[in-house]
Amino acid sequence: MDHFDFIAPLYDRLTATPDRARYQKMLNLPCAGRLLDAGGGTARVSTLLRDMIGQVVVNDLSHHMLKRAGKKKVQPVRSLVEQLPFADQTFERILIVDALHHFKNQQRSIHELLRVLKSGGRLAIEEYDLNHRAVKLLALAEKVMGMRSRFLRPAEIQAMMGSNCISTKIEHLNRNTAWIIADKN
Ligand SMILES: C[S@@+](CC[C@H](N)C(=O)[O-])C[C@H]1O[C@@H](n2cnc3c(N)ncnc32)[C@H](O)[C@@H]1O
Repeated sequence: MDHFDFIAPLYDRLTATPDRARYQKMLNLPCAGRLLDAGGGTARVSTLLRDMIGQVVVNDLSHHMLKRAGKKKVQPVRSLVEQLPFADQTFERILIVDALHHFKNQQRSIHELLRVLKSGGRLAIEEYDLNHRAVKLLALAEKVMGMRSRFLRPAEIQAMMGSNCISTKIEHLNRNTAWIIADKN
């Protein structure tokens, strides 16, 4: 059983209630089509967006996290984000919240997500910003807990988008958290 399988029953109670307006802005919703919540866990965030997009698909590796997502009227799909079982250009919107630092191969994950993103679509990533001391401490704490997290700086994540995107930008949500937003050509 992996770490997230273990904490799945308590996950939604231990984490903050998401601010729906924040994700609406980040993803430029409403929009017709499909949203992929990559590393979406229990669908804590994306279930709040269901009325702003045609369909919500939640991808995750953890069976127990996804079991909870499946009860929230989203479509759960179990797979590595590095190897998604979707055709090219399937999704209008893709969201990653608090998950990129857990992905084993982050460059490959972003490459794969840009593959399944439609032209004209948006990939929005919310991540802790390693430039701040509190996040360095969080990275250390996760290491001590035996998690194989790899935190990055927002500019490093932006650089992983390559030339597939018409525009990328970084915004700061608060001191420790950044959004990296990429619009695909
Ligand atoms: C901190 S949780 C965040 C869940 C959700 N995005 C949220 O904000 O509530 C990170 C999630 O990433 C998933 N994950 C980690 N590595 C993954 C991978 N390589 N492919 C797919 N999911 C992965 C974990 O199983 C976990 O559910």
